[in-house]
Amino acid sequence: MNAQELIDTARTLVAGDKGLLAMDESNSTCNKRFAKLGIPQTEEARRAYRELIVTTPGLGECISGAILYDETIRQQKKDGTPFVKAIIEAGIIPGIKVDTGAKDMAGHPREKITEGLDGLRDRLKEYLEIGARFAKWRAVIAAGDGLPSRGCIEANAQALARYAALCQESGLVPVVEPEVLMDGDHTLERCREVTEEVLRRVFDQLYTQRVTLEAMILKPNMVLPGLTCAKQETVDEVADATVRCLLRVVPAAVPGIAFLSGGQSGELASARLNAMHVRSKSPNSRLPWALAFSFARAIQQPALEIWRGEESHILAAQQALYHRASCNRAARRGEYNAAMERI
Ligand code: 13P
Repeated sequence: MNAQELIDTARTLVAGDKGLLAMDESNSTCNKRFAKLGIPQTEEARRAYRELIVTTPGLGECISGAILYDETIRQQKKDGTPFVKAIIEAGIIPGIKVDTGAKDMAGHPREKITEGLDGLRDRLKEYLEIGARFAKWRAVIAAGDGLPSRGCIEANAQALARYAALCQESGLVPVVEPEVLMDGDHTLERCREVTEEVLRRVFDQLYTQRVTLEAMILKPNMVLPGLTCAKQETVDEVADATVRCLLRVVPAAVPGIAFLSGGQSGELASARLNAMHVRSKSPNSRLPWALAFSFARAIQQPALEIWRGEESHILAAQQALYHRASCNRAARRGEYNAAMERI
């Protein structure tokens, strides 16, 4: 695949008012979410849930790309149609999570390093053959309580950049996801400081590892106060802090930024994304990159809670999934409002 094809794919993923759907929970994360709702933690239940998602009517109106997990990209609908084929027929580009998880980092208590570089070139080749056109790697950074350490930021930034370089060599667009976690009582200002530092290190490494910025997507957290911080800023304050931080550190050559939701409610994630777009409409506030979404929980959670493993709930769950996806589509136009939630 040549560089122009990668650039075109990256642009398509963030074009217009669409965004990405992350449905790449590892088996253990998916099982944990199922267990909370009393859904059996089996391969068949995970397959049935993913079939519900990929067959949601109209999903391609709101979703440009779907991130799959290794198990999912090999699965099929009950009628034997591979999920990858069903996704492409829905007008959605298939992607794949390729890291093998965040593991305890030696010498760095309470911090994680994401693994998965060994053998990655061969795995990327196989995923490309199956039909994936982009890939995702998530690094997690804890903020607050003396964290993060320089060692954790640097090791994760370098791994992200090496992954991204391998993706581009293999013909896949890298989605580079350094996530500053919401857990803890740190302030919004602390999140901004850590997010800015992490993104600076990530872009330093992307440059050092010769990654083509025009052919990647950044998937960052929004700049938010910790979940248990006493002061919770308004939607507009979060939107302003997030955009200001990104403008300082994300080069204009990057075609798009697609936020993770990170544990925010679906409504708040939509409202905050919407506020960023409302602000960017004024002539002095034009943004150099597309601002999109790449949510898992903030799109899927209501649907999962309705489905609960029951075949008779599938249609209602699909409606809930479509609803959240279309709220985020509206947010990308700056046209989302709370009234949409009362339908
Ligand atoms: P959330 O939107 O639930 O944070 O998930 C996004 C994701 O892809 C995590 O890697």
